[in-house]
Amino acid sequence: MTIQEQIQELKKKRNAVILVHNYQLGEVQDIADFTGDSLGLSIEASKTEADVIVFCGVHFMAETAKILSPQKTVLIPDETAGCPMADMITADELRTLKAKHPNAKVMAYVNTSADVKAECDYCCTSANAIQMLEEAFTEKDEIIFVPDKYLASYAASKTNRNVVIWQGYCPTHARILPEHVVAMKEKYPDAKVMVHPECSSPVINLSDEVLSTSGMIKYAKESKANEFIVGTEIDMEHALKAEIPDKKFYPVSSLAVCPNMKKTTLGKVLNSLENMVFEIKLSDDILTRAKTPIDNMLKFRREAQLTKK
Ligand code: 13P
Ligand code: SF4
Repeated sequence: MTIQEQIQELKKKRNAVILVHNYQLGEVQDIADFTGDSLGLSIEASKTEADVIVFCGVHFMAETAKILSPQKTVLIPDETAGCPMADMITADELRTLKAKHPNAKVMAYVNTSADVKAECDYCCTSANAIQMLEEAFTEKDEIIFVPDKYLASYAASKTNRNVVIWQGYCPTHARILPEHVVAMKEKYPDAKVMVHPECSSPVINLSDEVLSTSGMIKYAKESKANEFIVGTEIDMEHALKAEIPDKKFYPVSSLAVCPNMKKTTLGKVLNSLENMVFEIKLSDDILTRAKTPIDNMLKFRREAQLTKK
């Protein structure tokens, strides 16, 4: 039996679902039940009927699945697969910031630990940050937005909300430089430029569209254009090609690799299902408190792009 067949067999035995983020290795994307962005995968986690969720992504994503489905077993194939941006703010640091802005409401990008989410009023993802700022708050609100300074500045620039911005960022997207985009535009003048909102502001300013990973798939599918310059993690190209084989995608920079996303391999997925490792465990207190901001997000925004494989 191939490793893919062994995974499928064990998946049935465990009544498991395999959720895979768009930045995972191509071979892992190919064994998914669903691929998607953080929002789409969170929603799928909240409604799946499987007993076990194998989350191929990074730690905060598997934690979000556990928060939304606390009665299910949520497994992450590599327990060291974290997100450096999520680690740029701790619950203690957020409590200190809140004490300085006692009347502020707090919105966390989903790229945060469960401990940080437990301190927040709202959550958002790259797919809905602007809409959340517009719909969940008014002009009078002071809004603390953690941890991504680029997503926060971009979303704030599209609204008239008063946002206090934490200075975190994604080291992978920070490797994409404006000069890389300029060079690609010269090489492919007919291509549309789509970038992730975790890119720096100068990169965002050079783009045609600023989109979540699944937003990129939707846009590329619906666009009249046939070529796209893609400013995000390198394996997004696999996700785009799998869905839209007849169009051309050019990653802006081969340096944009998320090492944590690459930790999940087929061997580790098989190990995860065989030995039921590594289980996400959160205290009841954190499970309850971290659910509030996610529920508050899902009340506003349930629509999401997800690819059923
Ligand atoms: P998406 O929600 O757009 O998939 O992004 C998640 C992420 O971690 C981007 O770096
Ligand atoms: Fe975190 Fe950046 Fe990797 Fe996304 S790409 S998981 S934000 S380090």
